[in-house]
Amino acid sequence: MGKEFSIEPREVPRVETNYRRIVTPLPHPDSVATLEKLRHFEPQSMRGQPPIVWDRAEDIFVFDKYGNRWLDWSSGVLVTNAGHGATEVKQAILDQVNSGLLHNYVFPSEERAALAEALVGVAPKGLEKVFLLTTGSEATECAIKLSRAHGIKVGGKQKLGIVGFERGFHGRTLGSQQAGGMAGQKAWIVNEDPAIINAPFPDGYWQTNTSFDVFLTAVAQRGLKPENIAGVMMETYQGVGPDFAPVEYVRKLAEWCRQHQVVLVFDEVQAGFGRTGKFWAFEHYGVTPDLICCGKGISSSLPLSAVMGRSEIMDQFPPGSMTSTHTGNPVCCAAALASVKKIVGEKLTENAAQLGPVLRAGLQQIQARHPKVVGHVTAAGLVAGMQLVQAGKKEPNHDLAHNIIERCFQKGLLLFAPVGAWGQTVKIAPPLTIPRAAVEEGLAVLSQATDEAVNYLRAA
Ligand SMILES: Cc1ncc(COP(=O)(O)O)c(C=O)c1O
Repeated sequence: MGKEFSIEPREVPRVETNYRRIVTPLPHPDSVATLEKLRHFEPQSMRGQPPIVWDRAEDIFVFDKYGNRWLDWSSGVLVTNAGHGATEVKQAILDQVNSGLLHNYVFPSEERAALAEALVGVAPKGLEKVFLLTTGSEATECAIKLSRAHGIKVGGKQKLGIVGFERGFHGRTLGSQQAGGMAGQKAWIVNEDPAIINAPFPDGYWQTNTSFDVFLTAVAQRGLKPENIAGVMMETYQGVGPDFAPVEYVRKLAEWCRQHQVVLVFDEVQAGFGRTGKFWAFEHYGVTPDLICCGKGISSSLPLSAVMGRSEIMDQFPPGSMTSTHTGNPVCCAAALASVKKIVGEKLTENAAQLGPVLRAGLQQIQARHPKVVGHVTAAGLVAGMQLVQAGKKEPNHDLAHNIIERCFQKGLLLFAPVGAWGQTVKIAPPLTIPRAAVEEGLAVLSQATDEAVNYLRAA
């Protein structure tokens, strides 16, 4: 993990197709000053993405200033579900700016009311209250707080445990990172809360025993009983993949939560808003949680997040005591409302559902050609992941994932840096507006980049 891409300009072959245009060395020599300025003034944690200085982004494309155009398979980081700079979203932002209201704290606004109503309108029955925040981490922190407060209310101070999952990710703040299961990122916490634990995540690859008994055993092994657990927080799919838990497992989990008055939280921050071919990814399980956390694709643009849930849980804190300075900023609300309308109106969820099998089949073909190093491939709608391993072993291969992404970047296909607990995954997440021909072109590029990277690293 943590490897940087070179910012030394390199000659690369010229590319000119319907979806990609690469006509200069990369990075462009004139952009290096900006890359260096960022290196100088920002913490090194901010480095690590392919070295393109974004100039503008439109629908499924990202442009630099120098005539290059990438087919975007990142959506930023699964944000621009309705496409980059969607006309409707841009117009809603402009109209809101021109209306004269840029900020109103938690004073009432029509924009917040309209968005809250629209979000409840696209959620299943039962998720009837919305609390707007700014980032995904704030939403997951808030869900932890709501779950604990609820646990204490129904079971006293012994009922405050939160169960997250190994290799899960809920953000980088204290509570969200501890509930997440990226062991390598938690060293800074040191005195972890003994009531926040992780259970194995039943992805069927890294964790082959996918029985719900494994969850029960993990809780018991930490000396906890159901009466000590306030909430279970699960990414609806683990971001490394999409890796889903088996439907049967989640149904048993939901039943166990119901029996023991445990709040079931699905983290939909990256999974929601049509990404997986269902509007909410939890629809794949046929289970409705008590709370969901939303973010990223909610607005396809400006920073906004939300916790949605049952009134009984959402209404625990009295007036004025669960707010945030930027709760439901009116410009962000206007953007989100336009984005949700576009996703629903243009049937982008359906587009994701239709193209999912194309994406999966393309990745499976790559895997079939390189079965020793492409360890695991998963896809749902327009999110997919290709996990790279050391030849013939089930050991993560970050270098190969990194090299594939760098080669795609040089060919005009933009992916963000490898993800996963060990940085082993090439993750694919184009805007949901992508047409089939662009999915197929991207797959051809990825396939070629994989062939080249495998040969290069074999020779190296
Ligand atoms: C599933 C999930 N939850 C929470 C977060 C945190 O969101 P943010 O980066 O907006 O704080 C992320 C971000 O990647 C995520 O993927």
